[in-house]
Amino acid sequence: MNYNHIFSKIYDTLEETENPGEVASYIPELKNINPNKFGVHLTTLDGHHYSFGDSDEKFSIQSIAKVLALVLAYQLENEKLWERVGVEPSGTPFNSLVQLEYDKGIPRNPLINAGALVISDILISHFNEPKKQFIDFVRKVSGIPGIDFSVKIADSEKSVGYTNAALVNLMKSFGNIRNDIDDVLDFYFNLCSIEMTCKELSRTFLFLAGYGVCPYSNEQIINASKSKRINAIMQLCGFYDEAGEFSFKVGLPGKSGVGGGIIAIHPDKYSIAVWSPRLNKKGNSIRGMKFLELFTTETQASIF
Ligand code: DON
Repeated sequence: MNYNHIFSKIYDTLEETENPGEVASYIPELKNINPNKFGVHLTTLDGHHYSFGDSDEKFSIQSIAKVLALVLAYQLENEKLWERVGVEPSGTPFNSLVQLEYDKGIPRNPLINAGALVISDILISHFNEPKKQFIDFVRKVSGIPGIDFSVKIADSEKSVGYTNAALVNLMKSFGNIRNDIDDVLDFYFNLCSIEMTCKELSRTFLFLAGYGVCPYSNEQIINASKSKRINAIMQLCGFYDEAGEFSFKVGLPGKSGVGGGIIAIHPDKYSIAVWSPRLNKKGNSIRGMKFLELFTTETQASIF
C-alpha cells in the first residue's frame, strides 16, 4: 500500500479546514513550540518506512513515555504490578485527583499521572541509577543511542508541578509510594521530558506491533501475552477521558502526550507516530486524532 500518497491526501483534506486548539502552556517550556508543526511516520514490521511533513523534528513525547515505563515495570514485577495500579479506564482527566481518594491511593490505570507516578516509584525501587537505567532501556528498545531526556523541559515542569506533587503525596499517605516524594517526582518529570522525532517514536514502539519482539534486533522486549495487555491498556486508557472517542474513531491502541504526539499500533502490521501540537481541552492532539481517524478509514484497516 502506498502510505505516502495517503498521507499527503489526508493532509490536504485537513488543510481545507481550520487548525483549532492550543499548544500546552501549563508547562512553560512547551509554549515555545510552533503550533502549526505536523509530522507523521509509519514503520511496518517488515521494515518499510513512510513519512510526511516534520517527521524528523524532535518534540517532547510527554505521556507517551508512560507506556515505556509501564513495559519495564511489568517486566520487572510481573502480575504483582497490578496490586498497586489498576487496568480500568478512568474517564477522568490525566491529572485528576478525585478518584484517588475513593480508591484508597490505587490509581485506576498506569497511564494517568497517578498511575505513572506509582510506576516511577516501582522503577526507583528496582534500580541504583533509575534515570540512567530507564533511558538505557529506551535506547535499547528504540535501537537509537542518542535518545535522551530534556533537562530544560523536566526543570520547567518541576517548577509548576503542584498537581503531580499533590497526587504523589496523597498516594504516599495511603502507603502506595515507597520512595522519597522528590525522587519520584524527579524521575516522573524526566520520564515525560524525553524527546523523539516521529520516526524515532514509531521505531521505538514497533515491538508492540510485533508481539513484544523488536523486528530490527530480534530482541524479545516482553512476551506476547504482556504485549497484548499493554496494547489493551492503551486501547482503554491511552486518551484518558477521550479513550472511547479515539477507539471509536481510530480503532487502534494508542497513546497521546501533551507535546502533541500520538503513537498508535496496528498489531502484526505497523506502528504510526503523528505530531501536531495543537491540543483540545482534554490534552490530546486535535489534528493527530483526526489524521489517524481518516487514515484508518482510508486504509480500511483497524483492529476491529
Ligand atoms: O504530568 C504532566 O502533566 C505531563 N508531564 C504529562 C501529561 C500528558 O502528556 C497528558 N497527555 N496527553
